[in-house]
Amino acid sequence: MEVERVQAIASLSLTTDTIPAEFIRPEKEQPAITTFRGPVPEIPTIDLSDPDQENLVRSIANASKEWGIFQVVNHGLPTDVIAKLQAVGKEFFELPPEEKEVYAKIPGSQSIEGYGTQLQKDIDGKKPWVDHLFHKIWPPSAINYRFWPKSPASYRDANEVYAKYIREVADKLFTSLSLGLGVEGHALKEGAGGEDIVYMLKINYYPPCPRPDLALGVVAHTDFSSLTILVPNEVPGLQVLKDDHWIDAKYIPNALIVHIGDQIEILSNGIYRSVLHRSTVDKGKARMSWPVFLEPPGEFVVGPLPQLVNEENPPKYKAKKFKDYAYCKLNKLPQ
Ligand code: OGA
Ligand code: NI
Repeated sequence: MEVERVQAIASLSLTTDTIPAEFIRPEKEQPAITTFRGPVPEIPTIDLSDPDQENLVRSIANASKEWGIFQVVNHGLPTDVIAKLQAVGKEFFELPPEEKEVYAKIPGSQSIEGYGTQLQKDIDGKKPWVDHLFHKIWPPSAINYRFWPKSPASYRDANEVYAKYIREVADKLFTSLSLGLGVEGHALKEGAGGEDIVYMLKINYYPPCPRPDLALGVVAHTDFSSLTILVPNEVPGLQVLKDDHWIDAKYIPNALIVHIGDQIEILSNGIYRSVLHRSTVDKGKARMSWPVFLEPPGEFVVGPLPQLVNEENPPKYKAKKFKDYAYCKLNKLPQ
């Protein structure tokens, strides 16, 4: 099957200064028109090494209620571990097309793992300006190394080391988020799959785009995950909807961007909000990002934590298997 990668389309477009019509968003989505340029509050930045535990819990809980997204610094993930993850991912996307195609998604497969490009056009008949690579990085029993690039040679080591550290950060976040709800520290992690949580890495590669005013990278969505922990490269592009305005996330070197996903919104019975976000693209530079989606196993049932539900607070969401949640969301069916 011949698939057109956005990276290939981008190299053709560079000489023409135009993009194919299927990438031109309707005006209501065009970044040049819909990005808010007025004075805006900034996405909260949280120091994860804050020795004042109460203050840390409060800041994380407030950010998760009001924003559904925050940046964390002093998170314990060493700078060189992040830099290596980024370097090997960038090297992969700079390989010749035929070397990347070795890792292409398997047509007809249920799994999203592999190198790919969104093939379906969305309801407006438009396509996102981005290619990606998905593969699991944890737990070991869930990993399929077929989708881990063999080139560069250090790809595997860089990803294994990153997986070890990111799990420690995730545990800290789950604990603070739980305490912020007034429940026991282990409640949210357990409710989101416990030790069976699947860590799905995605690398987004947004090639330079001659018309960044008209195109979008990923279109507005909330993540299916419980949490998403993302590192971007230095090219800004992530935007979040706050009080009906699309605002830019500031690039903070070595910060991690934490998104509250749908499963935490459900577990918290709506106290924490999953954030609506999208990404824009750049005229001169390739933008890249490395989100890790923390997902419950498919058969695992997620619903509002019983501790948070009572007569005054009835459940706002159904409890259901994660695979059924994902199916409904992908197919735009009611939950
Ligand atoms: C995603 C996503 C944002 C970004 O891949 O789900 O929201 O900054 N990416 O690349
Ligand atoms: Ni997302």
